[in-house]
Amino acid sequence: MSKIGFVGGGRMGEALIKGISRADLYSAEQIMAADPAEAQRQTLHKQYGIATFAEARDMVGECDIIILAVKPQIMGLVLDSLRDVVADKHLVISIAAGITLNFLESKLADNGCRFIRVMPNTPALIQEGATAISPGLRADDDDMAKALAIFEAVGQAVILPEIYLDAVTGLSGSGPAYVFSFIEGLIDAGVKVGLARDAAQTLVLQTVLGSVKLAMASNEHPAKLRAMVTSPGGTTIAGLHEMERAGFQGIIMDAVEAATNRSKELGKG
Ligand SMILES: NC(=O)c1ccc[n+]([C@@H]2O[C@H](COP(=O)([O-])OP(=O)(O)OC[C@H]3O[C@@H](n4cnc5c(N)ncnc54)[C@H](OP(=O)(O)O)[C@@H]3O)[C@@H](O)[C@H]2O)c1
Repeated sequence: MSKIGFVGGGRMGEALIKGISRADLYSAEQIMAADPAEAQRQTLHKQYGIATFAEARDMVGECDIIILAVKPQIMGLVLDSLRDVVADKHLVISIAAGITLNFLESKLADNGCRFIRVMPNTPALIQEGATAISPGLRADDDDMAKALAIFEAVGQAVILPEIYLDAVTGLSGSGPAYVFSFIEGLIDAGVKVGLARDAAQTLVLQTVLGSVKLAMASNEHPAKLRAMVTSPGGTTIAGLHEMERAGFQGIIMDAVEAATNRSKELGKG
């Protein structure tokens, strides 16, 4: 039975531990985490009943799946520190933004382990993440199935070649910020047309949530759903006309393209 060890039990590490515990994917005995912060180790132990380690090196021998959930800036140092304890039994999954499979594989080239790189997003913190998963050179179907199950425990996940991960970063990685910006704009718009801020916020959040649920449940193209609420000569077409005039969809495309290009730039180091 696989055992899974988190190197880094911070925000994302904890979100994943929570998700896979809730999904009963791995029992508490099969999950462990290493983190230098004692308070965080205590929280993880108390909340999820898992074993914790101050040093990742002491944990790695105990597990067969390693999830690297440390900040990208320290990934090189962390990999160097694990060089003599990672072995060919290990599947190593990195969630660090911008850290390439090539970098990971070159750091632990001779260890015979398999790598997978993933790009989750912040709604994974409440088990509603959108994640892309890319196989490294040696990762096999069984490895990919394990990775998919882990990230489906915290939302939805798709498998894509690594060349698409900059686009994923620009789209779903940065996506929550675009959505929050849209939500903020709608709330202010409600205030502009005379609603109290609290009421506007309640109406806007439920409108966004309800629209997303409707889009997911109906599986229709969004253009069709939009047409359904757009009656001839009505209020919605008056609002949509203003959005079209301002180039709303073009602005969104520009935003995603800019974020994708920035991800490519950062990846070049
Ligand atoms: N949060 C997101 O939305 C998001 C989205 C996509 C990808 N990611 C990726 O997820 C990774 C983690 O992000 P995060 O937001 O969870 O960061 P975080 O909250 O700072 O968590 C990282 C944890 O790793 C610990 N750590 C540092 N050195 C370590 C070591 N040598 N061994 C074991 N643990 C160590 C840190 O402890 P100290 O604080 O004591 O140093 C911290 O608790 C990043 O690479 C990020 O790119 C995050």
